Amino acid sequence: MSALKTILVAGSANLDFVVQAAHIPAPGQTVLGRSFQTFPGGKGANQAVACARAGGVATRMLLALGDDAFAAPIEASLRSAGVELFLIRKAAQPTGVALICVADDGENAITVAPGANALLSVADLPSLAGVSHLLLQLEIPLSTVLAYAAAARAAGVAVVLNAAPAQALPAELLALVDILVVNEGELAAVAKVQGTLAQRMASVAVPMVVTTLGASGCCALVQGRWWTQPAYAVAVLDTTAAGDTFCGMLVAALSHEHDQGQGFQAALALASAAAALACTQKGAQASIPTRAQVEAFMRAQPLPAPHQPPLQSIAGEPQFIAPSIVGPPKGT
Ligand code: RIB
Repeated sequence: MSALKTILVAGSANLDFVVQAAHIPAPGQTVLGRSFQTFPGGKGANQAVACARAGGVATRMLLALGDDAFAAPIEASLRSAGVELFLIRKAAQPTGVALICVADDGENAITVAPGANALLSVADLPSLAGVSHLLLQLEIPLSTVLAYAAAARAAGVAVVLNAAPAQALPAELLALVDILVVNEGELAAVAKVQGTLAQRMASVAVPMVVTTLGASGCCALVQGRWWTQPAYAVAVLDTTAAGDTFCGMLVAALSHEHDQGQGFQAALALASAAAALACTQKGAQASIPTRAQVEAFMRAQPLPAPHQPPLQSIAGEPQFIAPSIVGPPKGT
């Protein structure tokens, strides 16, 4: 029996201010919403919670919070999920916040005021001793992300980057990344070409590139080999943190399942099922399922098979079947 792998998430933590409305406002438009709630969020913290709820790994998080009342619910949420915290208190800035409008079709629009997240610095990185994977996002300064990735590479720790929110990335950073997880918009920002999905993914110089495609599932290019995974069918309530759930579950599953001799396809399936389940609940960390919930869901669902045998070359575009995530019932 091998010791638990340890995943360190270094990234953002926000308090999400969420308004539910019929639709997301267009520029210059005011929309009357229906309800307002706050939820612990932030891409880094959401991914840490997803790792912890995946189980089978020890999860740590490096985060920066302000010295204010918004910090407490975030800290409580992470601790109750079982995340070990390296918490840096940055009194010079408030805790990060995100203003989120969630529409009736489950889609959202998010604006982040980074606050203390923007002060997370190179000096804040804790020891990487015993860490197997460092999971990063782009809601902290890019210079900090680069320094953390370089430290991880030097320590022999696998670097996983969820390149969200979308931005162009220096080749210097991509050269330090072992696993890149993006959605289509983020892929467009990092790809060197503007061709097909396959060509864009192949243009990124990272050994493992995983692209999430919402209702069309996800695909991955690993050392020249293609993998695809359809989405699980659910009634979508709120897509907030679905991508974060995918990232956290995937990293936990990759480190754990490899130990157990299961495989990459199983990790993609688990991450996809967890992301689908996260869409059925409101909020960010509040919506992230436990591994037991994900496994029960997968047992109850007909398993969506990969769309086709993994492609051996990038000559053709991976083919995806019609969306299998269904919207909320009309009139609710
Ligand atoms: O990915 C969802 C997250 O993005 C929200 O929780 C919000 O805080 C922003 O960071």
